[in-house]
Amino acid sequence: MIEWRPLIAAILRESPRPAWGLHGVPHWARVLENGLRLASETGADVRVIGLFAVFHDCRRVNDDRDPGHGARGAELAGSCRGRLFALPDPEFALLTEACIGHTDGRTEGDVTLRTCWDADRLDLGRVGIRPDPRRLCTEAAKRPDILGWAEGRAAAGFIPERVRRDWGLERGPGA
Ligand SMILES: [Fe+2]
Ligand SMILES: [Fe+2]
Repeated sequence: MIEWRPLIAAILRESPRPAWGLHGVPHWARVLENGLRLASETGADVRVIGLFAVFHDCRRVNDDRDPGHGARGAELAGSCRGRLFALPDPEFALLTEACIGHTDGRTEGDVTLRTCWDADRLDLGRVGIRPDPRRLCTEAAKRPDILGWAEGRAAAGFIPERVRRDWGLERGPGA
C-alpha cells in the first residue's frame, strides 16, 4: 500500500528540478502508466514499477546527462521506506537496482527491472526521440501498438489524470 499524496509531497521537497519540467511529475506519471501497461504482459511487480516511476529521476540536478541521479533517487527511496511506503526486502532491492541501473542503458536483468527501464524509455517521445526497439528490453515494449501509444502521449506532453486524482497536484499558472 502506498500513500501517494504524502509520498509525492515528500519527494518534491527533495527534488532540485522544477516539478513540471522535462523530468518532472508528468514524466513520472507517464512512466508509471507505461509500466503498468507493460506489466500486464510481462508480469513485473507493480509496486516496484510505481515507486521506480516517482523516484528514478527525482534527484536530478540538471536535465542533461547527470551521472548518478538514479543512485541518488534510490537513496531517497531508502530514506522514505517504512515512513511513506512499505516494501519487502527483495522488492526493495529491485527498486534500488532499477533506479541505479536506469542511467547506464542496461537492458538485461529481472523482468521487473527490464519493465521499469522500458517504461522510462517509452517516454523519450517527449524530447522527440523515438525509442529504438533494439534498446528496449521487453517484447511488449517493442510492439508497434504500445510504442505508438506511449510515443503519442509523450510527444503531446500528456498529463495523466492520476497526477490530480491520486497525487493531489494541480499545475498552476506559470508553473
Ligand atoms: Fe533518468
Ligand atoms: Fe526518466
